[in-house]
Amino acid sequence: MKKLVLILTALVVSSSLIAQTVEEKVESLLQKMTLEEKIGQMTQFTSSGDVTGPTLRGNVEKEVKAGNVGSLFNAFKADYTRKLQKMAVEETRLGIPLLFGYDVIHGHRTIFPIPLGEASSFDLDAMEEAARIAAIEASAEGIHWTFAPMVDVSRDPRWGRVMEGAGEDTYYNNLVAKARVRGFQGDDLSKENTILACAKHFLAYGAPIAGRDYNTVDMSLQTLHEVYLPPFKATVDAGVETFMTSFNEINGTPSTANPYLFKDILRDQWGFEGMVVTDYTAINELVPHGTAKDLAQAGVQALKAGIDMDMEGAVFLETLKESVEKGDVTEEEINVAVRRILTLKHKLGLFEDPYRYSDTEREERLVLCDEHKEKARDFARKSIVLLKNENQVLPLKLENKPKIAAIGPLVKSKKDVLGAWKAKGSPKDAKSLFEGLKGATRGKAELLYAQGCKLDGDDTSGFAEAIEVANQSDVIILAIGEARTISGEAKSRSDITIPGVQTELLAELKKTGKPVVVVLMNGRPLALEKEDELADALLETWHLGTMAGPAIADVIFGKYNPAGKLPMTFPRNVGQVPIYYNAKNTGRPFDPENPSGYKSNYLDVPNSPLYAFGYGLSYTTFEYGEITLSSNTTDGAPITASIEVTNTGDYDGEEVVQMYIQDIIGKSTRPLKELKGFEKIFLKKGETKTVTFTIEKEALTYFRWDMSEGVEAGEFNVFIGTSSDQVKAASFTLTKDYEVGKKNYNPIQSK
Ligand code: NOJ
Repeated sequence: MKKLVLILTALVVSSSLIAQTVEEKVESLLQKMTLEEKIGQMTQFTSSGDVTGPTLRGNVEKEVKAGNVGSLFNAFKADYTRKLQKMAVEETRLGIPLLFGYDVIHGHRTIFPIPLGEASSFDLDAMEEAARIAAIEASAEGIHWTFAPMVDVSRDPRWGRVMEGAGEDTYYNNLVAKARVRGFQGDDLSKENTILACAKHFLAYGAPIAGRDYNTVDMSLQTLHEVYLPPFKATVDAGVETFMTSFNEINGTPSTANPYLFKDILRDQWGFEGMVVTDYTAINELVPHGTAKDLAQAGVQALKAGIDMDMEGAVFLETLKESVEKGDVTEEEINVAVRRILTLKHKLGLFEDPYRYSDTEREERLVLCDEHKEKARDFARKSIVLLKNENQVLPLKLENKPKIAAIGPLVKSKKDVLGAWKAKGSPKDAKSLFEGLKGATRGKAELLYAQGCKLDGDDTSGFAEAIEVANQSDVIILAIGEARTISGEAKSRSDITIPGVQTELLAELKKTGKPVVVVLMNGRPLALEKEDELADALLETWHLGTMAGPAIADVIFGKYNPAGKLPMTFPRNVGQVPIYYNAKNTGRPFDPENPSGYKSNYLDVPNSPLYAFGYGLSYTTFEYGEITLSSNTTDGAPITASIEVTNTGDYDGEEVVQMYIQDIIGKSTRPLKELKGFEKIFLKKGETKTVTFTIEKEALTYFRWDMSEGVEAGEFNVFIGTSSDQVKAASFTLTKDYEVGKKNYNPIQSK
């Protein structure tokens, strides 16, 4: 015991010595720096390697040599990053190494499913591992920092960036956010295969009015705190090292100029010590937003809001010096930002060896290696959601050497499967659905092909060939959906049906009388009423990445039994949007059993979605028993809720068992149900397992209109089931109130 204490003390002392040393090193470097050099460190430019926004600066190499740059993004490959690093280290006065950033969102060269697709797996370990692999590949190519994870809760599928997050639920977003941060950063940032993560976009970027990217956000502080802030807090708890601002304004203040967000909440309340970067030219955009009359004022507002680094805008570079001279900001305010930047460079070990990440040997050995591709294939299978399977048309049997018609504009696509934000993923490395089908059916089936139509436009001239091919076949696999270029940043849509004549093609193929398996590829929830009616089977495959083809084939032929669940509601039509499962009851809830007038409903469409949050089928079936609670009352001590789940179908399979809670009466109104737990279980055919969830009082707390937080005595419903709209119910009573502490979050009173 004594020995253990001694070892622990030694560890604490030595680690505090290391921390001390970094602080001292940063401080002594800061002493040597001119004001210009400091502002240079606060500046980030894009290289020409990739384009993720409008480029403002032509010759970045010149800027590096001039000491005007602390960080570059969109530069990769071991050789190129080494070359740029050499310029910074050998050709600037102080030789401070550069920090290389990049949008490594769902893989670097080996591309995993788009994040919304990954989220359909409800497999947190797999998400952590995918981020780990992305970090291993990116770091070998010289990248130190990814601009991920995006942890914006999103309830509006018109917004093109829903593909980049974990969907509509806050609790789930919290868990996914932590898993992704752990994956990118690992447990030791000084290792050369870990990279800095970046929680973005702070804040509420996922809630633009009408789903139009960059648009205004106007919402109650209660919703902001209850729905949109927690995933960011989760990243801080997981040790995230950087934050990115969002482009939008919230209730009148653009995020990039908002000290309430970055000082009061992020730093003072949450204790975040890392670095804040702006989004791309977001300081410049304070001028069109209308809070700054010119760039100089914009720069002052951003610095005073707590921003450390200016992405691409060059506002700090061009205006801060003069702002110091005029007394609008102090050099000490600049020092605060520079300290954070230099500390990160130290943490990554760049001062010891600026080239440790740019490693051609690792790049050669690890990038796109077989192991990574196998993981990508497995994760792609886990991300597929079976939406419909009439007459158990799937999985397709190969016993009688069937003729299979592979039709549709996405069957042979190798670029769309990569999805938006594909980093360095290349179509030439990707496997199309057709290749997957070929691999799975070689010698066992006859595969025919017709494109049928394009992804967009009204050209139906390919229909005849497609119908002919269909007529010769036993079954049709039709791959339709969205091009990768219509989701992602600046890719909002006002119509979320499948574009062009693709659905018309489906209708024509249906007329052949052959069973039609529709494979959907898309970056957002779509309005699929027609497809749901026409298709015999519907597979939501999102954009699954490099190994999309073999993964979909695994599911189609039953090598893998699909188990994905939707992390975002699929509406019946765009008019229902925003639609999400954890809505409030209203004073006039609509009851379809008793549809009398003057209720909260539409005249032309039911209130229910087409597919609810948490929905997804399997080739097998699961039966749920009744919920057993360990107690029907509690004074706040944890209770458990258990349920038996039986695999009643013909296949072994996995099921995501979901637990939701409803606080029936509150000082403020509460949602009809909120996800508070889930467990993914594997059940052999005929097997039964008991799943037990523990309910702690912390899971019941919420923010009230006066911004106090707590849980109130009263009755609660517990729901457990296979999706948010198919659940068993029980209830318990909490006998005591608990306050988490009355916190005043009112920004008007922020310092
Ligand atoms: C703008 C996007 O909003 C952000 O998420 C991304 O990291 C930057 N561009 C850099 O590409």
